[in-house]
Amino acid sequence: MAQPLGGSVLAVLFLLACSAMAMAAYNVVDFGAKPDGQTDSAKAFLAAWEATCGARKPATMVVPAGRFLVSQALFKGPCKNAGMKMVIQGTLVAPPGYSDITQWITLKYVEGLSVYGGTLDGRGQALWACKKARRSCPYGATSLTIGQSKNILLSGIRLLNSEVFQMSIFSSTGVTVRGATITAPGDSPNTDGIHVQMSSSVTIRGSTMRTGDDCISLGPGSAHVWIENIKCGPGHGISIGSLGNAAQEAGVQNITVRSVAFTGTQNGLRIKTWGRPSNGYVKGITFEHAVMSNVQNPIVVDQNYCPSNINCPGQSSGIKISQVNFHDVRGSSATQVAMKLDCSPSNPCSEVSLKDIKLTYRNKQAQSYCRNVKGTASGVMNPPSCL
Ligand SMILES: *[C@@H]1O[C@H](CO)[C@@H](O)[C@H](O)[C@H]1NC(C)=O
Repeated sequence: MAQPLGGSVLAVLFLLACSAMAMAAYNVVDFGAKPDGQTDSAKAFLAAWEATCGARKPATMVVPAGRFLVSQALFKGPCKNAGMKMVIQGTLVAPPGYSDITQWITLKYVEGLSVYGGTLDGRGQALWACKKARRSCPYGATSLTIGQSKNILLSGIRLLNSEVFQMSIFSSTGVTVRGATITAPGDSPNTDGIHVQMSSSVTIRGSTMRTGDDCISLGPGSAHVWIENIKCGPGHGISIGSLGNAAQEAGVQNITVRSVAFTGTQNGLRIKTWGRPSNGYVKGITFEHAVMSNVQNPIVVDQNYCPSNINCPGQSSGIKISQVNFHDVRGSSATQVAMKLDCSPSNPCSEVSLKDIKLTYRNKQAQSYCRNVKGTASGVMNPPSCL
């Protein structure tokens, strides 16, 4: 498969297309934005957005090259057209230091928007330092939030050094992320790449993620999600969960994670649930064609998550996990137990299918661990199956 075109190439193509079709284009600089990295351009960005969103025909918002300081921006719909574009050649820069805001750049109630290019520099360093020093610090801001929105494309976005999550997609449908580059240091706290929750028809492909937490995490209510051709590491891997924190929770279903390369990550492919009662479920999951390089826990199902042993010791997860495939997973584990399937005593995992697992552990035999799992193994199994 061809790699997606770079954001800036697409940006130029779109500018040409726009002028050819005389599509309305609203440039943030014309609304007063300053590419000096110091003057707060939030008001100008919002004014350009109002014009784009309020246009009766498909319109384009343009951010030219340069560094634009944006204190905070909520791009809100509903809009008057569903064929909007945002062409971003420059970088949006968060303010220095940190504050109490929890969302930096947000799309809300937006339907029909394609974003080409763009770099979002969250400048999370000051907040990470505060957290490392264990002072009392604010929670932090997600760099890009897509909420209550529909039919959104992000092509070639770069997310850099967010305070907490780099991107969060919630209560949305039809969101495609392609050719994203997401970067934060491996030791930066809570800098998950993309978190998905209460959303369906989400596609994430052809992207590179280096983070201090999960590259991609799928929370309650994630459905019909397609993840393909991702490079992950450093980071904590690709995770379904944590689930089952609440007693009443939406399930996770029909998730495909295909052709992911994990390098030096804490986990590879993981399903994680709290060890306490919940009515949620996980079903119809396919993990296939994964390559692990020195991954601590390449395959993990952990239904006994109970951080700090608060509110769950001795309890059992209510989340029902079924129809999970791990097919064609190869490479190297950094620990001897390369595959750990530790399911709930009260709700054993069912219909788990293992096929062609080829994981090595240095010059020793890799091992697998199963508890409360029903399923089948076929093809090459290394470590040997524990089913
Ligand atoms: C599963 O999700 C994919 C998108 O990832 C979608 O194309 C497919 O129709 C879904 N299958 C079902 C049975 O809903």
